[in-house]
Amino acid sequence: MAVSDGAPPYHLRLMAHRIAVIGGDGIGPEVTTEALKVVRAAGVAIDATEFDLGGARYLRDGEILSDAILEELRGFDAILLGAVGTPEVPPGVIERGLLLKMRFDLDLYVNQRPFIGTGPGHTQPHDFVVIRENTEGPYVGEGGVLRKGTPHEVATQGSVNTRMGAERAIRYAFDLAVKRDGRKHVTLVHKTNVLTFAGDLWQRAFDAVAADYPGVGTAYNHVDAACIYFVQDPHRYDVIVTDNLFGDILTDLGGAVSGGIGLASSANLNPARTGPSMFEPVHGSAPDIVGTGKANPVAAILSAALMLDFLAEFAAADRIRAACDQPGPGTTTQIGDIIAARVAG
Ligand code: IPM
Ligand code: MN
Repeated sequence: MAVSDGAPPYHLRLMAHRIAVIGGDGIGPEVTTEALKVVRAAGVAIDATEFDLGGARYLRDGEILSDAILEELRGFDAILLGAVGTPEVPPGVIERGLLLKMRFDLDLYVNQRPFIGTGPGHTQPHDFVVIRENTEGPYVGEGGVLRKGTPHEVATQGSVNTRMGAERAIRYAFDLAVKRDGRKHVTLVHKTNVLTFAGDLWQRAFDAVAADYPGVGTAYNHVDAACIYFVQDPHRYDVIVTDNLFGDILTDLGGAVSGGIGLASSANLNPARTGPSMFEPVHGSAPDIVGTGKANPVAAILSAALMLDFLAEFAAADRIRAACDQPGPGTTTQIGDIIAARVAG
């Protein structure tokens, strides 16, 4: 069949995964371009639709993420996001209005962040994954401010923890430990010695779920101790499950001890598949290096590989991960080209 528009032949288009692409701000569009290039080179048929969203769009016409656009996004198989945020917009506006709105409204309740690397001072590589609860904790925006700007100002910011929310993230972590080629081990990270209400809920939910997985070993670490272990003994970990804020902080540390934030990938998952999941590098929009070719596209490319896992394109995802080993040095585009050539060949 003749196809004049450069699109894949019709039989491929029928099978193509429909991907919403939000390049976003700063280096986001640069790294996303490379991720799409690599996915296509791996032979996966995708039908990509670009959405112009982020700080730059907000400054132009005030759009952050309207309900209408959110509804449109629901129709896709997955969302690939570069990075959002620009220094001209005050903190919180785009983060809450776009990124967290997607996490909450699309019920992306698991944030899965794998860490494979050799930490500073170590000779053996580690391989662990953090499961971060992604819809609760202090991220929900509970709280408020009184007497703002006066010496008597009061601010509260509550942390919301539901048994259902903790339990579904914990269950996902145990299921992953069973499936993964690892030690079949899950560590709960929290701060039960101080956050006695939330910590107790998490610990009881963890113990209850663990009872359903007799073949999976368990441990508990306070979050401050976990920071030491990430640096000094990362090999003790297989799967870690933790709350939203601890998971945010720990996964930056995880990136730092696993070859740098330029390699750190993440999947915001709706495991119940009631809507699309969203895939994004852990790093931000890095406006200081935009256009210089210095942005490492590997984190975005590995995030696209996580997307392919979720779309059951396992062989392509594995090929991409293998191709991401030592692709540099080079510019953003050169690294993308090298990885694309490896997966194609
Ligand atoms: C992350 C980011 C986000 C978070 C910000 C940009 C809101 O740091 O994905 O880790 O805190 O979750
Ligand atoms: Mn973060």
